[in-house]
Amino acid sequence: MDKITLTQPDDWHLHVRNGKILRLVIGHTARQFGRAIIMPNLRPPVTSVSAALDYRAEILAALPEGSEFNPLMTLYLTDNTPIGAVQKVAESQHVYAFKLYPAGATTNSDSGVSHLDGIFPLLEAMEKHQVPLLIHGEVTADQYDIFDREKIFLEQNLSRIVRRFPALRIVVEHLTTEEAVQFVTEASANVAATITPQHLLFNRNAILAGGIRPHHYCLPIIKREHHRLALVKAATSGNPKFFLGTDSAPHPTHSKENACGCAGCYSAHAALELYAEVFEKENSLDKLEGFASFYGADFYRLPRNQKTVTLEKQPWQVPEHYRQGDVDITPLKAGEQLSWKFME
Ligand code: NCD
Ligand code: ZN
Repeated sequence: MDKITLTQPDDWHLHVRNGKILRLVIGHTARQFGRAIIMPNLRPPVTSVSAALDYRAEILAALPEGSEFNPLMTLYLTDNTPIGAVQKVAESQHVYAFKLYPAGATTNSDSGVSHLDGIFPLLEAMEKHQVPLLIHGEVTADQYDIFDREKIFLEQNLSRIVRRFPALRIVVEHLTTEEAVQFVTEASANVAATITPQHLLFNRNAILAGGIRPHHYCLPIIKREHHRLALVKAATSGNPKFFLGTDSAPHPTHSKENACGCAGCYSAHAALELYAEVFEKENSLDKLEGFASFYGADFYRLPRNQKTVTLEKQPWQVPEHYRQGDVDITPLKAGEQLSWKFME
């Protein structure tokens, strides 16, 4: 097979930032995807519908001319999110979900939720209004080893949330472990998950073996090979609970190549190509369309896209950098060859 045509995909977990970085990265996502769930972890975080609408307007203004890309906005949950915000989101045309960051879990999460039980009234309202809850599933306390943080979150927190709010629609974001795959597989149809390209392509050797590679550092951190294999199996299984969410998370190159580098991999430049490599290796290219273009839309109760996109078997080299003005971003697989190419 040297050409694949699929229904235009959507990215169900994406960071585009604002200002200059937004203007550098947004074209990459807009050329491949019809829609994307936009993460709200700006500084300051996007915590109200009106702030989300302002942010959406900034994204629309940064789009290449003629683009029909539709940013689907989310609100950042804090300890102080007012209960009325849930109904406002339910009634909003452009805001689709709340994002739960345990305080301190990742980039720009200091204003996140510090006490889970404190937001239970909000979760109850989300369940009632059928507003999805998107979860960064990691515990944050220093006592927990960074490689165990997802698994412990499932045991301590997620299982409790799912039991207490059975009708709440939950997306466990960027799965990284075999345990999380099992949890989501066994949960009700109200629980789904996104999977990133980096967690399908790499195990933790890619961060640490033969030298430290900061461009492979993201959160939740990439785990051992058996976890990668479980994720690949889930993504290529045709199970509609697992769908595409790149977690493309641009940081300036100097903030990654740093004594204390930021977490986040930039993958929007070649998102679909990176997934295609994984699916091809598994002899599962026939499962790519469901994962990339159907299951996420179905979970969010949105229509599937009408257009189609095409990938061709045509080797190309990923640039070392993407630059615009004084912004410099190093993409995933910088300088390396990819075998599939997205056709304009
Ligand atoms: C994300 C970012 O940079 O905003 N970083 C990451 O490593 N994935 C935040 C997140 O999704 O955890
Ligand atoms: Zn993210």
